[in-house]
Amino acid sequence: MPYFFHEKDSLLHLQSKAVSYVLKIYPSGLIGNVYWGPRLSEPQDLSSLICLRDLRNPEDPAPVDYENREDILYQEYPSGGVSDFRPPAFRVVNPDGSVISNLRYHSHRAEPGKPALPGLPALWCSRQEEADTLRIRLEDALTGLSLELFYTIFTDTGALVRSARFFNNGPEPCFLTRAFSLSLDLPPGEFDSIHLAGSWARERHIVRQPLKGGALLVESSRGISSHQENPFIALAEPSAGEEKGLVYGFNLVYSGSFSALAARDQFGSTRVLLGLNPECFSWKLEAGEHFQTPEGVMVFSREGLGGLSRTFHRLYRNNLIRGQDRERPILINNWEATYFNFTADKILDIAREAAALGIELFVLDDGWFGRRDKDNSSLGDWVEDPRKLPGGLKDLAVKIRETGLQFGLWFEPEMVSPDSRLYREHPDWCLHVKGRHRTEIRNQLVLDLTRAEVREAIIRMVSAILQEVPISYVKWDMNRPLTETGSPALPPDRQRETGHRYVLGVYDMMERLVSAFPRVLFEGCAGGGGRFDPGILYYMPQIWTSDNSDAVERLKIQYATSLVYPLSSMGAHVSAVPNHQCGRIAPLETRGSVAMSGIFGYELDITALSPEEKETLRRQIGFYKERRRLIQTGDLYRLKSPFIDSRNDGNETGWIIVSPGKDQALAFYARTLAVPNPGLAVLNLAGLDRGFTYRVTGKTSYTASGEVLMQAGIRLPSWWGDFQSCLWALQKI
Ligand code: DGJ
Repeated sequence: MPYFFHEKDSLLHLQSKAVSYVLKIYPSGLIGNVYWGPRLSEPQDLSSLICLRDLRNPEDPAPVDYENREDILYQEYPSGGVSDFRPPAFRVVNPDGSVISNLRYHSHRAEPGKPALPGLPALWCSRQEEADTLRIRLEDALTGLSLELFYTIFTDTGALVRSARFFNNGPEPCFLTRAFSLSLDLPPGEFDSIHLAGSWARERHIVRQPLKGGALLVESSRGISSHQENPFIALAEPSAGEEKGLVYGFNLVYSGSFSALAARDQFGSTRVLLGLNPECFSWKLEAGEHFQTPEGVMVFSREGLGGLSRTFHRLYRNNLIRGQDRERPILINNWEATYFNFTADKILDIAREAAALGIELFVLDDGWFGRRDKDNSSLGDWVEDPRKLPGGLKDLAVKIRETGLQFGLWFEPEMVSPDSRLYREHPDWCLHVKGRHRTEIRNQLVLDLTRAEVREAIIRMVSAILQEVPISYVKWDMNRPLTETGSPALPPDRQRETGHRYVLGVYDMMERLVSAFPRVLFEGCAGGGGRFDPGILYYMPQIWTSDNSDAVERLKIQYATSLVYPLSSMGAHVSAVPNHQCGRIAPLETRGSVAMSGIFGYELDITALSPEEKETLRRQIGFYKERRRLIQTGDLYRLKSPFIDSRNDGNETGWIIVSPGKDQALAFYARTLAVPNPGLAVLNLAGLDRGFTYRVTGKTSYTASGEVLMQAGIRLPSWWGDFQSCLWALQKI
């Protein structure tokens, strides 16, 4: 059992195959962190881990009251309003208006496995032996507030999952105005901070910068995890690279407004906080009630960012994403082919052509319902439009299935158009604040999913279609952030709960729909990658990575997304040129190679392609099908970064996907801009077995050992023109 209690020193040791995490219960009852790093063996004396900054004055040997100098302790879940002046992990407004909570150790217990969190997405284990959970209970003797801190350590990956649960055992209500999922104080050290920032069509670019004095705040206040920031932050030693160096990574299992904070204090130690954004949150705790935070995941790597990513990928594939194992079909989506302007005949033409090329699923995107010819009407009226589908949705689905394809459908269940029957009947069913303007974004409002009757109505409409029509796939879109985040169904002192209650409402709907239709494959989407987070991945195994389908832009987006999320979670499609988001003309081969490093599909009018282009598609589809399992379950090693830094011009991108047994691999390389008169270039591979001999099949085919391929590299072909790329299939012989 990878949990040990050192009673004499009051140390709690969580141990996995490769990682240890050690907590100290101080005599005052405060909980501190004394170690997070490579595995420490047991039994042994760990008392030397307890070491505090020496505050004694050499002239005055009087003992220092360390216990009450909370600012020098490396705390686990610090309170504010006391002698720790760093940002607190939580804040409770007590019935007397004060904000002090003196939570002190009460008890702890460990259990095999991991408890579920009702109503919230959470990591899980399929066997109890996969993880152990430690609960530490703390109590405030004055107010009756108590807190349970949850720590789960996963035996294989060493990943830690944390959350906090507050109980109001006092006689009167109190208000929780800050409740992070995790807090950690790292001892003094130099770090680079890394986060994933961007915008619509430019999601999740890597931002790496030295963490000096002060605090780095990464956050979303949009009600969704957002295009602009991802609920992820990492601290890396400055020399850490892809395959070496120390990195700590933190990721929140949540899809709403969040904050990630890394603050360096006066002594050079760094406090990391991750959880609900306190600017968008407050929760009234009635006497006897409790509040559970979302989960935060902590991953430690000594093998650089690559090691960090592979741990996250393995953890999420094995212990987060439900339905991860199912083979994902190659799809064709009509959005960029037709937008709102289609007929059933046009859709069938595309589907027939797609079936002939080997595509497996047709997805009918936005515009099939109400009278939706533009983005200004009908959301909420989930009934097919007879003008576009005269035979009805079912008739179209049946005909598509007759071509040999599965049928998938787009919904945007969380929204309502002011121009809709739903809104005319229920104008109060959207998030709003009485008397205030209702901001429309993309001509739509957000349904008030804090209300059970609103969720019921939408679930009824969506379920009716899923029951009636043979549908194998649903794309769940969400195209605007939350504004005027209030609900007429909540009393004034609970209005600031609306944002979090909305997210809980979304989770409730997702849970009920994915459980009611277990054979349907769900893909998440939020105007592309506006809600690409572990919360959504708990319900839906794949997410449309970005509305930007340009292959060159996708190099950055997919490379950076892979820092945390597995390739099996990233929807990636080949689209038309000039590209609809940026006008770039990239070769079809490069568009295919980039999209194949994810959940592959097409999003263009294939009926308009030339015979040669169709032949290329047929080859791509055959190639992907043969390697689908490798791509969806292999280990990723990033080889060259598309991001510019002091040592890298960002013109080359490379990665390799290696099967768990290392007998198969797929290497990818892209050169963005042509280089005139180049020298001989090579790409050093990684992750292979040095002793294996591989057949390497790219533009030419040859054999070489894993050692040669990693140490000396593979030779890159010479190219003419911009946006060129190559794939190499490696097979052990
Ligand atoms: C945004 C999505 O990201 C697109 O793929 C498409 O489904 C549109 N919405 C439809 O409105």
